[in-house]
Amino acid sequence: MAIPFDRGYYKQPFVKLVSEYPGEDAYPIADFRTEWGPIFHRGRLDGSARVLILGQDPAQHEAIVRRVLVGTAGKRAQGFLKRLGVIRSYVFINTFLYSVYGQGGGTRHIANQLIAAYRNRWIAAILRGNAIEAVVAFGGLANTAWQDWLASPAAVEFSSSPPFQHLTHPTWPQSSAHTRAEQEAATTKMLENWNGGLRTLKPAIQNPDVAGELELYGPAFDSDDLPDIPPDDLPPGLPSWMRTEEGWADRKGETVLDKRRTIVVRVPKEVLPQQT
Ligand code: URA
Repeated sequence: MAIPFDRGYYKQPFVKLVSEYPGEDAYPIADFRTEWGPIFHRGRLDGSARVLILGQDPAQHEAIVRRVLVGTAGKRAQGFLKRLGVIRSYVFINTFLYSVYGQGGGTRHIANQLIAAYRNRWIAAILRGNAIEAVVAFGGLANTAWQDWLASPAAVEFSSSPPFQHLTHPTWPQSSAHTRAEQEAATTKMLENWNGGLRTLKPAIQNPDVAGELELYGPAFDSDDLPDIPPDDLPPGLPSWMRTEEGWADRKGETVLDKRRTIVVRVPKEVLPQQT
């Protein structure tokens, strides 16, 4: 059976976009992990995307597979799309091309005009090339990125802007909570926020991949809420556990510098024959 894969950036305007990305002139190495290279998108660039998702910045899993939102945040966002009936007609980009390093780096650089101008070229290319029916920004910085786009001269070309929702970032429960109980409470709060987004956006999706009534989240994620990343979204030949397992890559190191230089990738035990 043929195994689908993402052919990458073979069509204009994306060929040009990925060959003209900003480097350390826009993204200082003190605040961004530019050493791991830029990571651009995930999903359809062939005109079939109906939902545009804006995330924040790539992390270690994204650095390995070279597509955005493939780790915990990505699977949660994938589950959100599924509840909208969208299982392949989407495209994800991030606010930042490189992983933010250290505290406050994202906030410090959200108004950077070089960063915004390049991101707005991506947004314009996606809106021009696809009939986008809804836009979601996960997190405050992604919301600022979308507002920045709306205020940009390029946005004037589009007579109307798709329905938009600013929702809580998918890993906010982890980053905001100190205890398990706090994390569970934060997850419930986030899912209530996402339910608001689902209620608003569901009627806007005229062409879902899967028709059906809207089912809202309960107080916690259930197992169907963390779907695998489709192979169609990733470069050819990546092992399937990279799409199904959570947490197979970690930054590790004895010193701060070491940790910055090192991502440890571990094949899940279950993938290999068990040794006695
Ligand atoms: N990974 C991404 O690519 N974006 C996020 O916002 C979070 C994790």
